[in-house]
Amino acid sequence: MPTPDWSPIKALAQTPLTDLFADDPDRLAFLTADVAGIHFDWSKTHLAREAVEAFAAHADAMDLAGKRDALFAGEAINVTEGRAVEHSAQRGEGAPDSVAQARAFHARMRALIDAIEAEALGPIRHILHVGIGGSALGPDLLVDALGRESDRYDVAIVSNVDGLALEEAVKDFDPQATLLAVASKTFTTTETMLNAESAIAWMTEGGVADPYGQVVALTASPDKAIAWGVDETRILPFSESVGGRYSLWSSIGFPAALGLGWDAFEELLEGAAEMDRHFRLTPLRQNAPVLAAFADLYYTQVRGCETRGVFAYDERLRLLPSYLQQLEMESNGKRVTVEGEPVTWPTAPITWGGVGTDAQHAVFQLLHQGTHLVPVEFLGVVEPEDVQSEAHHRQLLLNMLAQGAALMKGKGHEDAARAYPGDRPSSTLLLDTLEPRTLGALIAFYEHRTFVNAVLLGINAFDQFGVELGKEMAKAADAGDLDFDASTNDLLSRALGA
Ligand code: F6P
Repeated sequence: MPTPDWSPIKALAQTPLTDLFADDPDRLAFLTADVAGIHFDWSKTHLAREAVEAFAAHADAMDLAGKRDALFAGEAINVTEGRAVEHSAQRGEGAPDSVAQARAFHARMRALIDAIEAEALGPIRHILHVGIGGSALGPDLLVDALGRESDRYDVAIVSNVDGLALEEAVKDFDPQATLLAVASKTFTTTETMLNAESAIAWMTEGGVADPYGQVVALTASPDKAIAWGVDETRILPFSESVGGRYSLWSSIGFPAALGLGWDAFEELLEGAAEMDRHFRLTPLRQNAPVLAAFADLYYTQVRGCETRGVFAYDERLRLLPSYLQQLEMESNGKRVTVEGEPVTWPTAPITWGGVGTDAQHAVFQLLHQGTHLVPVEFLGVVEPEDVQSEAHHRQLLLNMLAQGAALMKGKGHEDAARAYPGDRPSSTLLLDTLEPRTLGALIAFYEHRTFVNAVLLGINAFDQFGVELGKEMAKAADAGDLDFDASTNDLLSRALGA
């Protein structure tokens, strides 16, 4: 694999955004795309035609097209773990055997959902999903974004090991009518297993005679779930080749499939598959995940940006920034190449963000006048939700569009404190509607963009060894096998009296 050579891209002229528009009358057509009900606009980024050409040459040098084919063919592109990366197969786009296996697992999930709906597990009204990281953030985003109007089941998703999280989640739940979904790819994650045990204790205290009879396991380690006490018939497996942060399409999406209904879950998969096909078949220069990655890399490699901001101007997408934090930072927060050599260029920026318009009144000061250049991504939905009044929705979208324009245009003033430098970049994603199909396409877009970034950076997006050390040290300290440093020992004795 070649080492990325950023010098042709760094050598390009740095033209202000307003000049880029003035110089190229077709800029809008060139830097916009419409895919699967989403309009993408990168015209307010500093990508000029020459930059796109330079990035396209870089993509060829890094064999992006070959890597993309390898991803969809189910080759073991996660080289450090010797695994294929098959979240797309969950949507029907991948190696035939993997697609067939995903369909069989989905059929099993659907059959269990049908049985639950038919009250085979009793009169279930509440779903308590415990999981963490990729086993919680995806389902949480789906249920929060799409489940507001649903009166099917109450869904609570608990991730934090802080007991308060569980206590608050179940405070209005009847243990007799609660289904506990334990979501863990490995079925060993400390937080999830402790939360699951506490949930069982809560059910027992609530008079449930057979609490394990109300448990469903969502896992790639069925043996461990059986050993923990879950009946084989209520285990919903998924493949090892589906990474945790890419797993909402598998049985990890169970609370969404049950909470929103199977048809909605299938539409989600179909929307993602539409984005898969776009990514797989569209030439690089018109390819949405590829163009987005070009813009990402322009700011990290050329302008030295260390963060990127994501602002959803829709309450239903308020969990998107947290979801993207794991997807992007756990995937591409790496310091060695695919070959294990240290990188000498920046990898993933820090993803952060919030919800508009709230964020405007909190953090946008820095975006407009601070010393950090932050590429901003705006997301809006054209069609309001039923309960959103026209007037509110209009204000929401007007504000989003005005912020992008203001960041780019700036404003001179004789008083420097009141001047806006402008020339600050943003991209905008406009969803026609927020439905399972468009949300599926949106999430798949982010997955592929993350992959393209990794390929062009020369790194592996699919391992996450960096999360292990802290976990190991906590376990060792719990077992009394670790003597920390002086500071941590002092804090330990203050915090836990140990
Ligand atoms: O600690 C990080 C991590 O391994 C994530 O990658 C993963 O999504 C999360 O923990 C949960 O893991 P599991 O699904 O195995 O419980």
